[in-house]
Amino acid sequence: AAQDGMSSPSLGFKPVAVSAADNVVVPEGYRVQSFIPWGTPISGDMPAFTQNASGEDQARQVGSHHDGMHFFPLNGSSTDGLLVLNHEYVEPRFLHAAASGLALDRNGFPQHEDGSRDTDQVIKEMNAHGITLVRIRQGEGGEWEVVQDALNRRVTAQTPMQLSGPVAGTDHVKTKYSPEGTMTRGTLNNCAHGVTPWNTYLAAEENWAGYFANADADIDRRQARYGIETRETGRYQWHRADREDDMFARFDASSKGASAADDFRNEPHAFGWMVEIDPMAPGADPVKRTHLGRFAHEGVIFAPAVEGQPVVAYSGDDARFEYIYKFVSRQPYQAATADGSLLDEGTLYVAKFNEDGSGEWLALAPGQNGLTPANGFADLADILVNTRSAADVAGATKMDRPEWGAVDPVTGQVYFTLTNNTRREEGDEHPANPRANNNFGHIIRWQEEGSHAGERFQWDLFVIAGDHADSRDLAGHSLDNDNIFSSPDGLWIDPDRRVWIQTDISESVMNTGIFEVFGNNQMLVANPETGEIKRFLTGPVGQEITGVVTTPDQRTMFVNVQHPGATTTEGDFATGNFTSHWPEGGSAIPRSATLIITREDGGIVGA
Ligand code: FEO
Ligand code: CA
Ligand code: CA
Ligand code: CA
Repeated sequence: AAQDGMSSPSLGFKPVAVSAADNVVVPEGYRVQSFIPWGTPISGDMPAFTQNASGEDQARQVGSHHDGMHFFPLNGSSTDGLLVLNHEYVEPRFLHAAASGLALDRNGFPQHEDGSRDTDQVIKEMNAHGITLVRIRQGEGGEWEVVQDALNRRVTAQTPMQLSGPVAGTDHVKTKYSPEGTMTRGTLNNCAHGVTPWNTYLAAEENWAGYFANADADIDRRQARYGIETRETGRYQWHRADREDDMFARFDASSKGASAADDFRNEPHAFGWMVEIDPMAPGADPVKRTHLGRFAHEGVIFAPAVEGQPVVAYSGDDARFEYIYKFVSRQPYQAATADGSLLDEGTLYVAKFNEDGSGEWLALAPGQNGLTPANGFADLADILVNTRSAADVAGATKMDRPEWGAVDPVTGQVYFTLTNNTRREEGDEHPANPRANNNFGHIIRWQEEGSHAGERFQWDLFVIAGDHADSRDLAGHSLDNDNIFSSPDGLWIDPDRRVWIQTDISESVMNTGIFEVFGNNQMLVANPETGEIKRFLTGPVGQEITGVVTTPDQRTMFVNVQHPGATTTEGDFATGNFTSHWPEGGSAIPRSATLIITREDGGIVGA
């Protein structure tokens, strides 16, 4: 139902076809170029990209596996600003030149015969993670370029960070590095992001658990509920760098010392948070805001801030049968003074979707919804460190892998992608997650009752993704050649209310079997009123499309291409016969990069 003054955004382009080609396709009348691929120099002595670049070089270059992203204009400009983007993880077989002569483990990480890892290679992996902040400017000819600037900066898996909010200073996070429990080092597996009403950047820590080893006989729920089991090693084996240094040793969380202040048994508890970075303060430590909860944070989306009202932020936990959360600040938003301290005091809620289309927010706070000492939750810090367990006890609704969220700036409706869940069994369907063996995913949305800070809402499904037969749009029709898609992940609503949808079909199944019909991962755009959806872009082979934002004038769009060539097989790595050579082509190794998309007539992208 249209409200007064509400515009329905135009989707004024001809949709592109699905594609399995190793290139990027945009609609007629549009241009696209690749920009700042992994390894592009941004600071210091500007070390040029080579596959042989050192670990320290990598800290002055753009990281790998581009993901969530925002453009912070300088002085409101649409041609000059700071591009800030996450780097989710690394593919070691592309990150390191093959010439080191070391054997590769089953995940492709080079290691010595005794199982130790080369220290510089580990440093390079750590520095390829994190966040890039880089000033970019559009020249007279329309081309964008990197500007060497004091704001250019890399935040990595080594960067010192503050802990803030209820968990800071508690026993949960005391380590040999920070016996007071107030600091930690680095951020890991930064997937999507958020932008606060006071214009800082939040990077989400998603699949951080895979970085830790813990050989203790008993793993408590602060680790086990997040996927850390008794094991000598994790995927990255950073603790096996061949140097005695806490920077590496901390990834072994086994109890080795007399107390927590002597070892790193608590190191994993300093991960799983949202990390605030002030892009305009390059000297300031990033801050982990613990009141937003600890889980596999995909990202965060803020409701539009209203003077005198609480700040509200939504975040999904991307794992099968996990939950959607929201944080409501205790103090009201006041534009003149707002800062990150608003995120340190408030209430964390988890969503319960009722079968009748209503929903409620369950507070994860001491004494509420069963979160009592008798049930094993000592206090607020204990609830937050164990957010998943608290949500279990509260009785939240188990979702099909919550990924990105977005808020319609006019209606206030909140959208979330639920990417897929092949482990949902027949009999466990729920109207909010209606398919058993959910291969293709769906998008849910809701309208809060009263304000965003309210405790009740009404929800519906915006689209059930899938092929021609197994899908449903808002009007109740099946998707067609112009818009079939699978595995919605990235999501963004532009100022004109276009709903941009990005897909992440896993490289393990893309372009095979039931997924062949969708081709490569892609980006579509939807009209939130009519539910019309059109395919806007297809990406190269093996990648996912993730991260999207425009300049304030909406004439330039930035989109990230993550992990091109991820479908390359073991044998193909050995011969250099990668499935993708994007963006450079020829025999080049594939590199994650940012796309710059414009219209030939200079118009608004998507209109
Ligand atoms: Fe990193 Fe949930 O995608
Ligand atoms: Ca990803
Ligand atoms: Ca994602
Ligand atoms: Ca995903």
